[in-house]
Amino acid sequence: MSITRKNLLKAAAAAIPAPFLVGAAAMTGPAMAGQELEPTPFCDDGDDPTPPQMEGPYFKPNSPQRTTMLDGAGTRLTLTGWVFGLGCRAISNVLLDFWMADNGGNYDNTTYRFRGHQFTNAQGAFSLTTIVPGLYPGRTRHIHVKVQAPNRPILTTQLYFPGEPRNNTDSLFDPRLLMNVRNVGGGREATFDFVLNIPQSPSPTPTTTGTTSPRPTPTGTSTGTWRAGVYYQVGAVVTYGGLSYRCTIAHTSMTGWEPPNTPALWQRI
Ligand SMILES: [Fe+2]
Repeated sequence: MSITRKNLLKAAAAAIPAPFLVGAAAMTGPAMAGQELEPTPFCDDGDDPTPPQMEGPYFKPNSPQRTTMLDGAGTRLTLTGWVFGLGCRAISNVLLDFWMADNGGNYDNTTYRFRGHQFTNAQGAFSLTTIVPGLYPGRTRHIHVKVQAPNRPILTTQLYFPGEPRNNTDSLFDPRLLMNVRNVGGGREATFDFVLNIPQSPSPTPTTTGTTSPRPTPTGTSTGTWRAGVYYQVGAVVTYGGLSYRCTIAHTSMTGWEPPNTPALWQRI
């Protein structure tokens, strides 16, 4: 694979120490408005958007919010990265919803092992602690993910591991979706940076907050009945099933994330 800006970025990112490796607690602060951030020093524009891939048959909505997916078996894998727009500016509060097979190559379609969503933090970074997913017939090793900036379309795609024998025979495999993976101790550390198809000005305007999304509904006011595909800011109030809920984490709603099913996003009032 030729050296691209993306690869250079990844190489630089690998040298960045721990502050980006934050836990869920740091991702639930009040300043979650999907802001464009200052250009990351080791990022350049010109990267193509991360290509989409098929969802496959095993996605299940309403995953729990968490940054750790472990069940005691398997090789530990830590996946970190940033989510950028086309202008190479990282974006905070981007939803990442991961799902993958367990160590034995099986998807849990009954409960939510190895399913979880999180939001990029104030720096536009994410971190997932999990295991190397197992192989199952017909596919090479992969991780599924949906990525969505506030009030933007969902990118559904898959991430791949370098050096896997089945990469050459899996028709879905795309080298543009290879993670950087290295062995550390008995586990692996992987990095991948998503580039969403979101226009950004190449240089920020210092006096603006530069949100990526249209102005959201005013905080704390009723926005009527809950609907899918709506950007809800913290404090927004909706009704659903005759009950009222207040938004606790800014997000774009999805079918399956109705307020009764998403206590991390909606609080009964
Ligand atoms: Fe899969």
